[in-house]
Amino acid sequence: MGLLSVLSLAHRWTAERVQPGDIVVDATAGNGVDTLFLSEAAGPRGMVYAFDIQQQALDNTQARLERAVREGKRLAPVRLLLQSHDTLPAALPAAEHGRLAAVLFNLGYLPAEGADPAVITQQSTTLTALEASLALLRPGGLLSIVLYPGHAGGGDEAAAVEQWAQQLDPQLAQAAIYRMLQKPLAPYWIGIEKRKQLQALPAEEII
Ligand SMILES: C[S@@+](CC[C@H](N)C(=O)[O-])C[C@H]1O[C@@H](n2cnc3c(N)ncnc32)[C@H](O)[C@@H]1O
Repeated sequence: MGLLSVLSLAHRWTAERVQPGDIVVDATAGNGVDTLFLSEAAGPRGMVYAFDIQQQALDNTQARLERAVREGKRLAPVRLLLQSHDTLPAALPAAEHGRLAAVLFNLGYLPAEGADPAVITQQSTTLTALEASLALLRPGGLLSIVLYPGHAGGGDEAAAVEQWAQQLDPQLAQAAIYRMLQKPLAPYWIGIEKRKQLQALPAEEII
């Protein structure tokens, strides 16, 4: 058996942290693979918010969700939002701030027929959205980021995200990376877990 793919790893970590009834966010809905995964994990008592700046992405996501319902899957309600993920705090009810179990980012462009490959996630909005997401997570919540260094602009964005994750206060969050070392242009994953205990930790517990 080979190593887990980046997307499988992202889903596996997320599945460990999302329980039925949880509130979760797909920050880049795309073709809806992650939105469907989150809506199954959160279940009918949960809630999913899915963002994308392209109507085609939201249409593809809606179609995928409808197919799953027809197949008998029991999903969380999904709110599809045609807006940039950096509007996340304003898009969520204040009562849900600090209660998110997971926020998923799958950066880059929409891999769909007819989609414009020039429409990609942008470093500045991505970083604003990541910072906001971390604040909105509950203690122990997960920020999952799939990065694509292989397309124009993707490498700079990935480097900026990596730098942002590296400088996070370890008392606030732990950051990990999963990358195929012989494939520098392949997608890779950064996972950030918000600390369960946000009070000061003894130095030996900060790793
Ligand atoms: C790699 S795709 C996401 C794949 C998706 N998670 C899936 O499961 O199919 C990246 C998506 O990010 C979207 N995107 C780009 N900039 C965005 C932004 N500022 N806010 C939200 N989505 C954005 C693109 O339109 C594209 O659909």
